[in-house]
Amino acid sequence: MIETLCIQGGVRLQGEVNVSGGKNAAVAIIPAALLASTPSTIENLPDIDDVYCLRDMLKWLGAKVEFENGVMHIDPRGLTKNNPPYDLVHKMRASYYLLPVLLGRLGCAHVPMPGGCDIGNRPIDYTVKGLSSLGVNVEITGGVIHAETTDRFEGKEVFLDFPSVGATINTMLAAVCAKGNTTIHNAAKEPHIVDTANFLSSMGAWVKGAGTDVIRIRGGRPLHGSTYAVIPDQIETGTLMIAAAATHGDVLIRGAIPTHMESLTAKLLEMGVHVTDADDWIRVRADGALRPLNIKTQVYPGFPTDLQQPMTAMLTTVMGASYVTETVFENRFRYVDELRRMGANIRVLDRTAIVEGVERLHGARITATDLRAGAAMIVAALIAEGDSEIAGMQYILRGYERIDEKLRMLGACVTRKQYQDSAFACVL
Ligand code: UD1
Repeated sequence: MIETLCIQGGVRLQGEVNVSGGKNAAVAIIPAALLASTPSTIENLPDIDDVYCLRDMLKWLGAKVEFENGVMHIDPRGLTKNNPPYDLVHKMRASYYLLPVLLGRLGCAHVPMPGGCDIGNRPIDYTVKGLSSLGVNVEITGGVIHAETTDRFEGKEVFLDFPSVGATINTMLAAVCAKGNTTIHNAAKEPHIVDTANFLSSMGAWVKGAGTDVIRIRGGRPLHGSTYAVIPDQIETGTLMIAAAATHGDVLIRGAIPTHMESLTAKLLEMGVHVTDADDWIRVRADGALRPLNIKTQVYPGFPTDLQQPMTAMLTTVMGASYVTETVFENRFRYVDELRRMGANIRVLDRTAIVEGVERLHGARITATDLRAGAAMIVAALIAEGDSEIAGMQYILRGYERIDEKLRMLGACVTRKQYQDSAFACVL
């Protein structure tokens, strides 16, 4: 069965919407729960495919897991296997967070190379370097990462070549298991790094400095289960903010953390969008003409690469020339071809997309090539004249909880359509 998202464009989004729990925090915190000696309860989890995939991986490894209504109970006591299956691992990048966790619990792990969105070369050398610094032997053969702790598995000074999210989380997870003090220099500062560190602290770990570029860990402490709620999703919040602005709407986003959104808010204000916020809500309102922008993606607290795609979709109908430079991933402009099919005027020179605003986009049959490209297709379809049908729903469902329902609550005309595989071939 293949699913698509059908959107009738041209409706101003209006009303209130709640943000779901953070995908990128959830996919680190769920495996981290395996480090405890007793069960954990993780709350505010998004109902998305990546969470289901992790649930299945944990079960396969021997843990007892129940997931219902955004709450996951994880009993790690039955963990016996250290080789999660390729069929599950290849579905998501974050599956490699199992590597340090299995090392910590079992001393040895065999994890297939992770999958995830195809947005450029996604090596794991920083993680390998981080784990090796702590005294882990790592070898990659036949597409599988084989890792084993040695008698040198202990806290160390770790210098990351780049503030990689994945390498920071993997090193942090291994360091709480390694006896002694670890300092991670040049660490990533994304909100989900802080959330993962807070979860580890709630389990009895000693982790300080997350959210800065130096994280200190006193490892080897016994960890117990904990009850913990993940933070709201920064990228879903941003996608909704962009969709509200792009449709010249007026949307109140509840359950958000405004400080996580500062780089996007600054850019929206620069364009002439009205953004107001308080403790846990953000209101985005746009009327009148918007101004073009220059954007460069950066690590947090810079403009997030995960919002580059929906933001570019919005800029397609903003008069004047906008420049969007991608510095984090080298292949994150593939979706631009789909926007062109809708009438967008975009040229890509090296790592910069030059977007010349056009009067309007036209609805079309389009394909999401990855998760955030899916967000771009949704924004484009919302502002286009006429009907659009978006294929690649499997990517969108990896990261956006009930996106069709949320958009409908804001007044959009959105439906999901299912096809038998053979019938679908005739559609696109
Ligand atoms: C995480 C996010 C993803 C986001 C990205 C950047 C999760 C589950 N995913 O991905 O949504 O787009 O951060 O904010 O949290 N790199 C290497 N070697 C490595 C690791 C990374 O060269 O060992 C490169 C990557 O190719 C990329 C850059 O470093 O160019 C950033 O990668 P990283 O921060 O690790 O992103 P992810 O953890 O994969």
